[in-house]
Amino acid sequence: MNNNAIRYNQLDPAIETRVEALLTQMTLAEKVGQLVQVVPFGSLEPDEMLKRIQEAKETGASFQSVFPPRPGINEDIRNGTVGSILNLADAALVNQYQRIALEESRLGIPLIIGSDVIHGFRTIFPIPLAESCTWHPALLEQASRVAAQEAAAVGIDWVFAPMVDVGRDPRWGRVAEGAGEDPFLGMAMAQARVRGFQAGDLANGRRVAACPKHYVGYGAGEAGRDYNTVDISERTLRDVHLPPFKAAFAAGAGSVMSSFNEIGGVPVSANGFVLGQVLRQEWQWPGVVLSDYEAIRELIPHGVAADLKEAARLAILAGVDMDMMGDAYHQHLAELVGEGIVPEVVVDEAVRRVLRLKMGLGLFERPYVDESLAAQVTLRPEDRQLALQAAQESMVLLKNEGNLLPLSPGKEHLALIGPLAAARRDLLGTWTLFGREEEVESVLAGIQGHLGSEAALSHMPGSTLAGDEPIDAASVVALAENADVVIMVLGEGHNMSGEARSRACLGLPGRQQELFDIVAQAGKPVVVVLMGGRPLIVPKLIELADAVLMAWHGGIRAGQAIADILFGAANPSGKLTTSWPRAEGQIPVYYGHKNTGRPMEGTGTTQFMEPFKSRYIDLPNEPLFPFGYGLSYTTFVYRDLIVETPVIDANGSLIVSAMIQNSGSHTGTEVVQLYIRDVVGSVTRPVKQLRGFQRVTLQPDEEQRVRFEVSVHDLGFTGLDKQYVIEPGTFKVWIGPNASEGLVGDFEVA
Ligand code: GLC
Repeated sequence: MNNNAIRYNQLDPAIETRVEALLTQMTLAEKVGQLVQVVPFGSLEPDEMLKRIQEAKETGASFQSVFPPRPGINEDIRNGTVGSILNLADAALVNQYQRIALEESRLGIPLIIGSDVIHGFRTIFPIPLAESCTWHPALLEQASRVAAQEAAAVGIDWVFAPMVDVGRDPRWGRVAEGAGEDPFLGMAMAQARVRGFQAGDLANGRRVAACPKHYVGYGAGEAGRDYNTVDISERTLRDVHLPPFKAAFAAGAGSVMSSFNEIGGVPVSANGFVLGQVLRQEWQWPGVVLSDYEAIRELIPHGVAADLKEAARLAILAGVDMDMMGDAYHQHLAELVGEGIVPEVVVDEAVRRVLRLKMGLGLFERPYVDESLAAQVTLRPEDRQLALQAAQESMVLLKNEGNLLPLSPGKEHLALIGPLAAARRDLLGTWTLFGREEEVESVLAGIQGHLGSEAALSHMPGSTLAGDEPIDAASVVALAENADVVIMVLGEGHNMSGEARSRACLGLPGRQQELFDIVAQAGKPVVVVLMGGRPLIVPKLIELADAVLMAWHGGIRAGQAIADILFGAANPSGKLTTSWPRAEGQIPVYYGHKNTGRPMEGTGTTQFMEPFKSRYIDLPNEPLFPFGYGLSYTTFVYRDLIVETPVIDANGSLIVSAMIQNSGSHTGTEVVQLYIRDVVGSVTRPVKQLRGFQRVTLQPDEEQRVRFEVSVHDLGFTGLDKQYVIEPGTFKVWIGPNASEGLVGDFEVA
């Protein structure tokens, strides 16, 4: 993909000179203004808000233009006391506010417009967790570039993405927004998205800055409850949660969003260790730290700030540069400086970072948006095709008993049953502020497209998502009995996943399990298409269904993609990036776990009559499906692993390969995975760690030797002294189709 992505994390002397020249002219009030980000609209009663949003949908207007403007926003911009606006996506309104900033304020500093563009702007791609299951960074880079192109056309300069939180707890609704449980895969996806968002060849020379989030550890909330307490070791922080952020910065990200959570008693927005020591001392990163929404104000309910003034003091001294909607800096920062409590140089440094980003984006030269641009770059055919490819590659075939799939269109009378079969809005998933449900293809439409109008296809929802209506079992059974194959589309609605959507019970919502049980009794072959923003705990369904496809929330082309897979026009290649639990009781269950002193594979203790081991007495330890798992319509054979470098030195690389053969009858793409294990370390090491993956497409019978090169520098960890260390010793290496199987070898680090 384009390698001319722009970097916002390097100091450009010309920009630094301009920043200093501007800073010296600024009053304290104007400096504080640069650190204030607000929404552009006033508050509305919920039902009035919904009415206005519906009105906007009907007229195609932006919802900002139908909302009342934020009281006093023009004066605030004119006085230079607001430096950024969020969730504004309307070129005319952006130009209106920029004109006030450029032409009516004293110094003419442009606004920076930020917005949540998480998996597409208008061309909505699959949710990020689904996209990560493609294991296809180049595709995610292209998708992010499309999103940047469409967002930039309506005046957005700053996307609050990628979300790079490592999520190992599917009770947490925001696992939907990330790249799963593994830091190494997360690093690859973070880099791809940053490069895509910050592409240097957007239309009209527009630019977009990425903002990786939520820094840091947000995915480790206790009990999978959103915003909940995080209490993890520094080693886990450094080896699991920080790496994707460091990778995003290495790809050029020049801003980051601080998270809501505390870490070990210190909320991140007041946490000098992660915001100061790690970001600034260790990483020397010069970017902007933007707080999450009201996160500074939330230091009060966290119980570390008695009032908003104290919250402002804690946050600015810890290193939060810009206050998103907390009103803490707007109200108290100048006062804190005036009282000598906050040195002005601290404010200056925050302002430098903001001005640096605005200049890097070219906003001083190009503050206004070409209002005709949006029509040229939105929902283009090539972008819709990319969304289809992303949806196809993101879906994971979990089961295909007797190769029931692919179906042959027109040969079988199909019954399509389930509350998501004709759904559209739900397929957009969470965080799709600007997606439009009328642009989504439903599964019903996708299947009809394959079958043509004459084919026998009967459809009924069978139940609602909420399960608030009784199921007409007789009609459901009759429909199923008349069909050769039943296709069910079941799962979570879009508002059952995402922020503040943690679930304690991860089964099918409503009465969908009952609906499945009724259909299963009809005794016909059943294909289940599951949708949702997380793995679902549906062991009985998976046992009884003949085929199960996890389609996640697949974006505007989901219906077409699902039909393409069901009828064999696309061969599934998606692989899970999050382990699939058997029960909520196993959570957190992830492949990169530690061995413990009493592993299942070990002898356990002989203290009692039976060997006591780290296990459950009512379930296996392993997940139902492992990280990296996904079936294809063909089969792949792995053989002949060769460790070309049995010993590597302190600057060497491991070179290892294996032969992969397509032993089936369909052309298919396999994601070949490489894992290592550091057998003995100065601290306990995970039993497996992903350190490489490659997608290979093979014709039937075709074989290919897949080769990996892993730098010794990727084999280190945070040692006893909290420094990154690479230790000599024996390592194991696997090349395989997922985290639980593969060819094994070993090598030494000298
Ligand atoms: C939300 C989310 C964050 C988002 C921000 C602005 O609460 O936590 O991901 O970017 O507020 O909408």
